[in-house]
Amino acid sequence: GEKWVLMKTAQTPTNIAVIKYWGKRDESLILPVNDSISVTLDPSHLCTTTTVAVSPAFHQDRMWLNGKEISLSGGRYQNCLRELRRRACEVEDKEKGIKIEKKDWEKLHLHIASYNNFPTAAGLASSAAGFACLVFALAKLMNVKEDDSQLSAIARQGSGSACRSLFGGFVKWIMGKEEDGSDSVAVQLVDEKHWDDLFIVIAVVSSRQKETSSTSGMRETVQTSLLLQHRAKEVVPKRTLQMEEAIKHRDFASFAQLTCADSNQFHAVCLDTSPPIFYMNDTSHKIISCVEKWNRSEGSPQVAYTFDAGPNAVLIARNRKAAAQLLQRLLFHFPPNSDSDLDSYVIGDKSILK
Ligand code: PMV
Repeated sequence: GEKWVLMKTAQTPTNIAVIKYWGKRDESLILPVNDSISVTLDPSHLCTTTTVAVSPAFHQDRMWLNGKEISLSGGRYQNCLRELRRRACEVEDKEKGIKIEKKDWEKLHLHIASYNNFPTAAGLASSAAGFACLVFALAKLMNVKEDDSQLSAIARQGSGSACRSLFGGFVKWIMGKEEDGSDSVAVQLVDEKHWDDLFIVIAVVSSRQKETSSTSGMRETVQTSLLLQHRAKEVVPKRTLQMEEAIKHRDFASFAQLTCADSNQFHAVCLDTSPPIFYMNDTSHKIISCVEKWNRSEGSPQVAYTFDAGPNAVLIARNRKAAAQLLQRLLFHFPPNSDSDLDSYVIGDKSILK
């Protein structure tokens, strides 16, 4: 019988939104209520590595996450796999004597092994890196010829934020207008070299899994929050344009002001949900006060903060010197082994994500 296996591996970093996505207008296609903008982290840090394999010896699609088998039966995985199989093309490996015809992809099964080098579902956007990597690796294996924006629309159906991880640098997810989601895609605003003196420090307040998943949180917010309507219609459209200008001109003062304001409005929208959703905790609030005080005392912002669906702080420093000062301040305010200490300090190689 046929004994061959064909494999591909990809590595994809996570991304952190500076203009947040929160709220879907279509849950199954994952279409958002507003545009969002993110920065993709350096691939040497928070990232997912995924190996995908195809073989006639496989009898079903299977996936392992961090070494543990997980189910692929969920709609999100099924949507991604279906969209990719539909676009798969002929693959030939003459050396190995393998030829896969376009129609064979419908019957061949896939094995997928994925590793996160950071805590899963702790509000560190693990699903973003995960689905982006899955789609990217499978697209390579299956010789899918779409460009990265078209691939982003497939990754989006796995996890909304995943569509932004197909690109490096600063990325915009355009909400789109079409009902089928074909124009709800990510585009690169600038590449990773454009603003390369920024330093990102992540303070891991807690590596525990979050209590409210983003899916159910968003659903409740869309159903109950009036503030979300105001945010999506009146605030984000203007703010997105201002953010694009700040990024284009490397204007850190505007960038920091917009990033912090948007994180705070996202968490206000969570509080405006019924029942209210609390993602930040006392330590998160202390970090905000500490950064706000420091920025004010310096006269111009040194650090921007942003928090996703969890208590961990993502701190974006204007340069290496500000990042070093920030770490000093964090260590002073949250000394290790005190009541208020952080779960871990992301220091040195793993903490300063450049
Ligand atoms: O794509 P999801 O379902 O993991 O949602 C991500 C939502 C936030 O991280 C809170 C904001 C964002 O834009 O990434």
